[in-house]
Amino acid sequence: MAKRAVERDVAPVMREERERSLEASLRPQGLSDDEYINQEKVKSNLRILVDAAKRRGDPLEHVALYGPPGVGKTSLAYVIARELGVPIRVTSGPAIERAGDLAAILTNLETGAVLFVDEIHRLPRIVEEVLYPAMEEFHLDIVLGKGPGARTLRLPLPRFTLVGATTRIGRLSSPLRDRFGATYRLDLFAPEALEQVVRRSAGILAIEVEPAAAHEIARRARGTPRIANRWLKRVRDFAQVRHDGRVTLAVAKEALAALEVDDQGLDAVDRMLLRAIAEKFSGGPVGVETLAAAVSEDAETIEDVYEPYLLQEGYLKRTPRGRVATERAYAHLGLAAPRGTLWEHGGRGAEPPDT
Ligand SMILES: Nc1ncnc2c1ncn2[C@@H]1O[C@H](COP(=O)(O)OP(=O)(O)OP(=O)(O)O)[C@@H](O)[C@H]1O
Ligand SMILES: [Mg+2]
Repeated sequence: MAKRAVERDVAPVMREERERSLEASLRPQGLSDDEYINQEKVKSNLRILVDAAKRRGDPLEHVALYGPPGVGKTSLAYVIARELGVPIRVTSGPAIERAGDLAAILTNLETGAVLFVDEIHRLPRIVEEVLYPAMEEFHLDIVLGKGPGARTLRLPLPRFTLVGATTRIGRLSSPLRDRFGATYRLDLFAPEALEQVVRRSAGILAIEVEPAAAHEIARRARGTPRIANRWLKRVRDFAQVRHDGRVTLAVAKEALAALEVDDQGLDAVDRMLLRAIAEKFSGGPVGVETLAAAVSEDAETIEDVYEPYLLQEGYLKRTPRGRVATERAYAHLGLAAPRGTLWEHGGRGAEPPDT
């Protein structure tokens, strides 16, 4: 009994560890099209910025990256540092609790280095205020003493490039947003681009994958390279344990079915969300907090992780009054759509505005 309890506690941690090291090994190494796949506009834009900065011998302007989880924000931060030929220091918004933490990080940067701040929308406000002059003029203002005798000490910093990543650009305060020289949005991938990711990863991991199988994995990966890599690896496990190790279309389909990824690439949580809207809330509109409580997920996870793909694929709509399940959602779940649904007929209301 005791042993099982331990195993159950440890297994997810180990899986996470393995996934992290897998992710590191599959990380694109440069901006070239066969390394950093897709995001063509961002790449061509960045190449110019990087070239210009290198030519002038200046640090790169500060860059903000935003987009759904697993689309390559962290990877791009590493690629930027590599293309510039400078070191990268990595931290995250919630990890920097006090102004002093940030001061310590900034004063220890190498000249020209990239400072990557993940989840930058979660930086505490007092830390943000220290960051402004650091970003703008490369100095820190340190207040010494208290009361009338207090004075400010201005401490020069090495010039550096801040790369901030967030799933929520709207959560950045506008003074912070204004201090980035460039802001790039990374979108979900089209299936063809994901197929390229699968082929690249299969090459690195030395997995033999039939083209039709690569296509199938890509098609069912919710537009997300991280998920494409995850499915590739799980399918490989399946191929090795149950078959001869080769990833054929049949093996891919069998493995994905075992992982509860359906034919359209929706997973168990996606379906649970749609089903909840359809069955518990008569198709919606339902507020995201209410929906979150009904499915025991947190609202932020629903908004960041699940909704982008469901919205893009037209299973879900956002209206000012909440989320609405679409006809496509009903069809996918094999349920009959209620008559007179909000967006379908002119009667109760036309197309809801996207928010
Ligand atoms: N453009 C790309 N080309 C090839 N592989 C990619 C690309 N983008 C992402 N990947 C793969 O997907 C994995 C996840 O990407 P990454 O960690 O950069 O996403 P992220 O946007 O930082 O996610 P999160 O918001 O969860 O931090 C990477 O390890 C990499 O293997
Ligand atoms: Mg990341």
